Order: sequence, then structure tokens, then C-alpha cells
Amino acid sequence: MTIKFSEQQLNKVNEIIARYPEGKQKSALIPILHIAQDEFGGWLDAPVMDYVAEILHILPIEVYEVATFYSMFNMKPVGKHLLEVCRTGPCMLNGSDEIIDYIKEKLGISEGETTPDGMFTLKPAECLGACGYAPMMQLGKFFREHLTKEKVDKLIDELRAQEKN
Ligand code: FES
Repeated sequence: MTIKFSEQQLNKVNEIIARYPEGKQKSALIPILHIAQDEFGGWLDAPVMDYVAEILHILPIEVYEVATFYSMFNMKPVGKHLLEVCRTGPCMLNGSDEIIDYIKEKLGISEGETTPDGMFTLKPAECLGACGYAPMMQLGKFFREHLTKEKVDKLIDELRAQEKN
């Protein structure tokens, strides 16, 4: 895979960098890492992070430090659908452990693993700011709230059905 943003993405990246004062381009790191993760397979491989460092004229270690700190960046390949189930206090008190165990059993994977067909990755997460809807998960750009085993079944069936269409 060639690690290079398309012209359109590069324009977006440059527009983000231009929001910050001269010499402060590192401030654009997080939004650019999001773009890179979306573009280069859903995770941040070392060559991808090196490419981002090159664009921002910063050291690769400065990119690694940020990318490895935030849980929204994936440091290894993930499936097409990333099931990020919150397991912090309010979600845990409302059954997130059971939901996580149910997903593990249903998909035959452990935390951090991906199904052999590359469809699903289970990634327990810390508070995602939707405690009032506990237990919940993030799926791409959307939250799935008040999770139950039945809702998990329905969600997985829907995602599998989408794949077949
Ligand atoms: Fe789960 Fe806050 S504890 S969203």
C-alpha cells in the first residue's frame, strides 16, 4: 500500500494545518491522525505515523506518543466494524461486562481480537461520555445505547446482512 494522501485529503490536511499559527503545526496532529486512520485501513501502522510526522515536520516519536495515548487510535489492524463497548463505572453497573462476555461468546473472539472473516473487532473502551445511556458502545460514528443481548444480536445480524447486499 502506498502511504500517501490523495490530493483531496492533502488539501483537507493543509487546511487543518493552516488553522494554527506558524510553527505550531503539531496542534493539527489529532485531526490528521483521524484522517490517516480512516484512509489507511482503520489503524495506524508505523509507516503511516512516520508519514504524518513528515507532513507536520515533527519527529515520529511525537506522533507515536499521541497515537498510543488515545484509545480512538488503533495500533493494530481492526475489522470492518469496530465494537467499542464502554466498561467504565456507570456502564459496568448497568451490565457492560455481560454485554462484553456475550459478544465474545457470540463472535468467538476475545477482547482486542477480530473475527476470522475480518468483520468485527471487539474493543472495550473507557467512558465515551454517554453514561446516561448505559450500557453503550460506539460503532463507527454512532453510539448504540441501552444495550441488551437482543440488541447486540440485532445489530450483528444487520451488519452481516448489509455485507451480503
Ligand atoms: Fe459508559 Fe460513561 S461510563 S459512557
